[in-house]
Amino acid sequence: MHTLADAPTDGRTWSDLDDFQAFIDAGGMVEPGDDMPDEFRSEVFRFIEFHANSELMGGLTERDWIPHAPGLRLKQIFLAKTQDEIGHAHLLYMVAADMGVKTRTEMLEQLFDGRSRFHNVFHYKAVTWADQVAIAFLVDAAAFASQRAVFAECTYGPYKRVLKRIVAEEGFHMRHGEEMLLRLATGTDTQRVMFQDALTRWWWPAVHLFGPDSPSGDTDPLIRWKIKSQRNEVLRQAYVQKYVPLLHGYGFDIPDNELHQDADGLWQAGSIDWEPLKATMRNGGPDSARRIATAAGNWADTAWVREALEQ
Ligand SMILES: [Fe+2]
Ligand SMILES: [Fe+2]
Repeated sequence: MHTLADAPTDGRTWSDLDDFQAFIDAGGMVEPGDDMPDEFRSEVFRFIEFHANSELMGGLTERDWIPHAPGLRLKQIFLAKTQDEIGHAHLLYMVAADMGVKTRTEMLEQLFDGRSRFHNVFHYKAVTWADQVAIAFLVDAAAFASQRAVFAECTYGPYKRVLKRIVAEEGFHMRHGEEMLLRLATGTDTQRVMFQDALTRWWWPAVHLFGPDSPSGDTDPLIRWKIKSQRNEVLRQAYVQKYVPLLHGYGFDIPDNELHQDADGLWQAGSIDWEPLKATMRNGGPDSARRIATAAGNWADTAWVREALEQ
């Protein structure tokens, strides 16, 4: 039986994945200076890098909308939200870089070269202000649910510590999304039509955010190592269960002809077309090229700051 005292900070190494699994199962936490199996290091690094890239690309979307936010109050909120998202990216890039797989600069350059991945929802275009409301209401909520599920266990110490702050701030974003939705839902006919159109554009990307069903059994290493605490389909189902009645309650239509309540009264989404998700993972989404080019342009424009700091 392994206990926390078995953590190999005393110079021993995990030569056996089964021993490492027993350590995790006994409540073990992994810290950057600890020995960790190569598979753990590379899988967890990949997961955190993906999260970091997504926060950065999401932050740039929020920034794009600061000038278009209606009124000073919403501009201030979007300014704060942009700072939150970029701050999340900073924290996550530091945690990822400490794993020693890639440097922070390598991660950023690969993102801006289009050789890296980020969340599907940041591969779509926000067309009107109502899209920003839909993003805050649907996408921040989906991100909040999946990040909270990681935070719930998360056996990699630095990731768990930064997630505490990230999840708290995403909670604010989600609440703000609810406030903005309420305003449009109780607003003019034009506002309601705008939100309905945005919902039609953003519903499926938000559902896709949770990913396809997790591999069967305990073959998903991130679940086995307690980085993720929930299977993708469980999180997705909980999301559908919560958001379908909310949106129906406001009188909006969900763009899913097969959506239905099962015999237990649970809402079940129709069959999901995963092709759009796969396209975004190849950076081939509807707005991928423009978003990556914009981010790369910012990186190039700020090269002088990095050069000045190196003097
Ligand atoms: Fe964030
Ligand atoms: Fe957010």
